Amino acid sequence: MSLVVKSVSTKPYDGQKPGTSGLRKKVKAFQAENYTENFIQCILDSSEGAVAGSSLVVGGDGRFFCKKAAEIIVRICAANGVSKLYIGKDAILSTPAVSSLIRHNKAYGGILLTASHNPGGPDNDFGIKFNCENGGPAPDNVTNKIYKLSTKIVQYKIVEGLEIDLTKLGVNSYSVNGMPFSVEIIDPVADYVCLMKEIFDFDCLKVFVSGKKIGSPLKLRIDSLNGVTGPYVNEIFLNCLGATPDNVVHTTPLEDFGGLHPDPNLTYAADLVETVKNGDYDLGAAFDGDGDRNMIIGRNSFFVTPSDSLAIIAHYLECIPYFKRNGVTGFARSMPTAAAVDLVASKQNKECFEVPTGWKYFGNLMDAGLLCLCGEESFGTGSNHIREKDGIWACLAWLSVMEHTGKGVEEILKQHWATYGRNYFTRYDYEECPLEPCNEMMATLEKTITEPSFIGKEYSSGGKTYKTKIADNFSYTDPVDQSVSTKQGLRIVFEDGSRIVMRLSGTGSSGATVRLYIDSYEKDNVLGFASQMLEPLIQIALEISQLPQFTGRDAPTVIT
Ligand code: G1P
Ligand code: ZN
Repeated sequence: MSLVVKSVSTKPYDGQKPGTSGLRKKVKAFQAENYTENFIQCILDSSEGAVAGSSLVVGGDGRFFCKKAAEIIVRICAANGVSKLYIGKDAILSTPAVSSLIRHNKAYGGILLTASHNPGGPDNDFGIKFNCENGGPAPDNVTNKIYKLSTKIVQYKIVEGLEIDLTKLGVNSYSVNGMPFSVEIIDPVADYVCLMKEIFDFDCLKVFVSGKKIGSPLKLRIDSLNGVTGPYVNEIFLNCLGATPDNVVHTTPLEDFGGLHPDPNLTYAADLVETVKNGDYDLGAAFDGDGDRNMIIGRNSFFVTPSDSLAIIAHYLECIPYFKRNGVTGFARSMPTAAAVDLVASKQNKECFEVPTGWKYFGNLMDAGLLCLCGEESFGTGSNHIREKDGIWACLAWLSVMEHTGKGVEEILKQHWATYGRNYFTRYDYEECPLEPCNEMMATLEKTITEPSFIGKEYSSGGKTYKTKIADNFSYTDPVDQSVSTKQGLRIVFEDGSRIVMRLSGTGSSGATVRLYIDSYEKDNVLGFASQMLEPLIQIALEISQLPQFTGRDAPTVIT
């Protein structure tokens, strides 16, 4: 039977503008008539016909509405001449797995169904993100094009009768208007596990994890927070590395993440932190809903800031076979991320790039061979093995470093600080604030800090005085294609290198989230408490920005 294509009239929806990482809204918004259909049609139209005859990878983090969205995508792709879709069984694919599959299958791109670390369920968030053929998030010029199309869309194409069983592995072949179209339902885990086996020395890690090297098994607490990483964790840590089932928790992907907020930080992964603090564990790790973020803690819940995690992996990178084989070119971090990795780069005589917030900015540098390892303070760490950050990869990298050094997490950190000095770092998030006052606050702050008289000013708090040296709204020129991204966050840099950074989140689904980042470097005083060390700068940041007055908040919702 040849299926037929139907054109359906539609009207544009406001606000289909992809943010830092795709389009994120409440599930209810995606359920509105034609809302999801419109956006998918605009993604396909942004290719200006190139998607016809090519293949796409589709999958998501298992949250509510993933399966429904996958079915819509199948019908719209069939109608728009896409020749093949690879879809994870049950519409499940982690974000790193999608990136890998796009690259391995030489697909045109991928459609990721996730709102990452935002809560899931019928009353929470959903998201759709488009990744390009390099496996990375679409760059600004593509997302801007998608948005522009969404403001003018008048119709979408669909094959209404096309049914797909997402639960059965295998190839489904169809004929659409006489043209072949196929959907392959794939094992979500297999390709990714192969990739990890190529990167890391699984034999050696197995000996380490199962205790053949140190006499007793390593005690791990890997927490998937009911997100997509569960099946990957089971395969890698249990089946491949010989950990026992009591080393992994929350490994069944749930549509509402079992009510958990699947964000691996000290606030939302509190259960992990408490358990590791009170138990006998060598390493704790948690991942977010779609598996690209990670948090690493050591014995007694010794917390590794993502900025430090990046620097340490950089320092030991060549203990990982993939990098030993391929060599290491440069490093990179997002602007708000503390500059710990810069110190490793300079010691190794390697370049270190500073890019705006969002993984998409790393892709060009990787494609040009300039970048091998990068990270963000927001619990993102990854390498050029794919074009997304990768939570499980980061955990395997830490296991490799622990195996290589024979040391625990805290000892590794302390040794690193003794060598390089320490970048104290904290981030305050003020979530779901009213939008208008936040916009006003940012505009006022930008005006204040860009007055020429702002430079050279002194601010004092808690017995410390800081003198302003540079202040701007961060702007980035991509060294590969020279594209310019402006207004990427307000930053104040002081004479001693300490920094205050403030920006509004681009991933929230309602209201505004203010992010305040504080970073301060100490060469010798490396064993202090971050909260105490940074208190004076925090007070100065609140004073300059007038955040309490504008937002009405006297405390952040999340402190990292
Ligand atoms: C946040 C993080 C950013 C990360 C993004 C996607 O974006 O700050 O580093 O790339 O999520 O995971 P934001 O909400 O700050 O725009
Ligand atoms: Zn994520």
